[in-house]
Amino acid sequence: MTNRILLSLLALMLPAFVFAGSSNSLMDVRFDGRMLLVANTDSGTVSLVDLSTRQLVAEMPVGEKPESVTWIGNGPLAAVTVYWTDEVVFLDTEQRKVVERIKVSNEPYGIVASREGRRLWLTHDYWGTVSEIDVPTRKVVREIPVARFIRGIALSPDETRLYITGYYNADLYVLDIASGKLIDHVPGHEQYNLARQVVAHPHRPKVYIPHIRTRTHIADSAGSIFPELSIVHLDRPKDAKRRTRIAMDTFNNLAVPTNPWECAISPDGKTFYLIYAGTDDMNLCNVLDDDYQEIERRGNTALIPVGTHPRAIRTSPDGKEVYIYNTMDFEVGIYDAQTMRPVTRIKVTQPPKSPEWVRGKILFNTAKPPLTSRRWIACASCHPDGHHDGRTWQNPEGLRRTPQLFGLAHTHPLHWSADRDEVQDFEYTIRGRLMLGRGLISGPVKPKLGFEPVELEEKLSGRSKDLDALAVYTNSFSFRLSPHILAPGKLTPAAERGKVLFFSKETGCANCHSGPYYTDSSLQRPFRVHDVGTGQDDPTEKMGPKYDTPTLLGIYRNATFLHHGKAKTLHEVLTAYNRGDKHGKTSHLSKQELDDLVAFLLSLPYDYPPEETPNTIPYRFVPRNNKSP
Ligand code: HEC
Ligand code: HEC
Repeated sequence: MTNRILLSLLALMLPAFVFAGSSNSLMDVRFDGRMLLVANTDSGTVSLVDLSTRQLVAEMPVGEKPESVTWIGNGPLAAVTVYWTDEVVFLDTEQRKVVERIKVSNEPYGIVASREGRRLWLTHDYWGTVSEIDVPTRKVVREIPVARFIRGIALSPDETRLYITGYYNADLYVLDIASGKLIDHVPGHEQYNLARQVVAHPHRPKVYIPHIRTRTHIADSAGSIFPELSIVHLDRPKDAKRRTRIAMDTFNNLAVPTNPWECAISPDGKTFYLIYAGTDDMNLCNVLDDDYQEIERRGNTALIPVGTHPRAIRTSPDGKEVYIYNTMDFEVGIYDAQTMRPVTRIKVTQPPKSPEWVRGKILFNTAKPPLTSRRWIACASCHPDGHHDGRTWQNPEGLRRTPQLFGLAHTHPLHWSADRDEVQDFEYTIRGRLMLGRGLISGPVKPKLGFEPVELEEKLSGRSKDLDALAVYTNSFSFRLSPHILAPGKLTPAAERGKVLFFSKETGCANCHSGPYYTDSSLQRPFRVHDVGTGQDDPTEKMGPKYDTPTLLGIYRNATFLHHGKAKTLHEVLTAYNRGDKHGKTSHLSKQELDDLVAFLLSLPYDYPPEETPNTIPYRFVPRNNKSP
């Protein structure tokens, strides 16, 4: 108790120095409030904004997909995680350049710094560890396992603990910094999903986690995806109710916001801000000291519109201003913190890639018309940045696991049942029950009756600029090398042995998983689909038992396997779900051989697949140099 009072006193005395930089974000404000850093994920740069002159002073290239940035102490050093190249990049903001890059484990995502700037901590998304970096020596001094797929990270105000969130479940993990031990785990709900950030209250024992809820048994425009906020009570005993769930869909009466992305709390702990990346708006709330309702809309404000696709929010250290990164306007908006009245906007980067890609990304992420009439759902609610959502959906045609969209340009036809041959066919998803949108094509399309693949008869590409742009974006995700390899092109000995098995006549895997993308999928008719004995596992199946051969690249990252998601591991694909050797021959393999085969599957891709194959479709963005450095 005394500790808490002391902390609150401290908070009152030193609001400017105590809390900035304590949670992961694409933006960070310097302790003195003068400078702002912005990580531009798509441009691969970090921008430096002078908040006193409201000017962009520098844009520094850092590498592919920076996901989180933090000041180190009061500068001039700063650090940024670069997700696709597995690096932490140190910037000198006075010299305005990169001063050091250090290699870290796979998929660094969130990063926070200690107040005096001696230590950095970061999450590794797929790998599931937290790395600790000693700033003076620029060395990773500890790497602590937490759980697969973690993204959000926050430092407790007293700097003794780290709060970490599970991306696919909004679980909260508490790590004791001194001992390096996990001392608490507060699970979310199985429906909780896509939690990217966690913010600690400056003096109340609570953390705030924005996320969505996926109700996979209802594939319906207003019943599948829900915006939510979890508040975890850190001081309650293990057997008490430790999470308060706030349903943001009813929080604003009838107006529904979509895809809560980041939140922020004012330095005095009295105001709570939450931005919605799907509906381009936000909530401005009072923090209540009631341990029950927790937040209320300030003055009963409605949802407040902001810019296009906001992904980050921060407050100034004096609590007077709020900064929102409206990512698809490529601008930071400055707002009055009490009223959210816009003050000014600062361009922080140029539109990346191509205008079609940019337009496609906006459409992919929006829950506004004409994509959907109901404001609940966006393509990105299930395919965030091309990743899967870790879920299997109960669709009318049967159970369907959400695939990742990497390499899509080369692996058409689409859907597990190969009932679509171009991404433009997702006009049917937009107009269908899932999204209830007006659609991007003007005029009617052939009606869809039952499970007949009419999409294959209608050519929808070339009929709408927006629909083509959506296809360009959707087709432009490319693979990164598997972290399960020794070096590019170099497999572990186990994976080498597994490779021999995979390509052997006896197992026959490469009969179907052939070519550089490990699939025989091709747009030549008739499509090759195969019955590998998996159709009978799901009584609700309406289209089986033949399925399109999925690519095996990147499957190390899948949460579950097969179209119905029932195989929990790769071993299960090869054993429990391969009855009668209908899915390649595996029954003769020893335990060791199965392990080796799985080691090989986990290593894909171990080289970059070609950017062009005879099956590659034209609607995509081709980077000039797609290879990681
Ligand atoms: C409710 C979650 C959800 C939403 C919203 C959603 N999808 Fe999907 N998506 C899925 C699932 C599940 C599958 C697998 C379905 C199947 O194969 O039959 C899928 C499959 C796909 C595929 C095929 C991938 C492949 O490898 O065959 C593409 C492309 C795709 N979606 C694009 C989109 C686009 C574009 C939108 C928005 C217009 C969208 N999705 C909206 C869940 C969703
Ligand atoms: C006759 C063609 C064929 C052969 C031979 C074959 N596969 Fe498959 N594979 C498929 C099809 C079709 C699916 C999708 C089945 C489903 O989802 O129900 C699949 C799915 C998979 C998956 C799951 C991928 C995911 O994303 O869920 C893995 C892993 C896999 N195969 C590995 C193998 C291995 C290893 C072998 C050799 C032992 C093999 N396959 C042989 C056609 C084949």
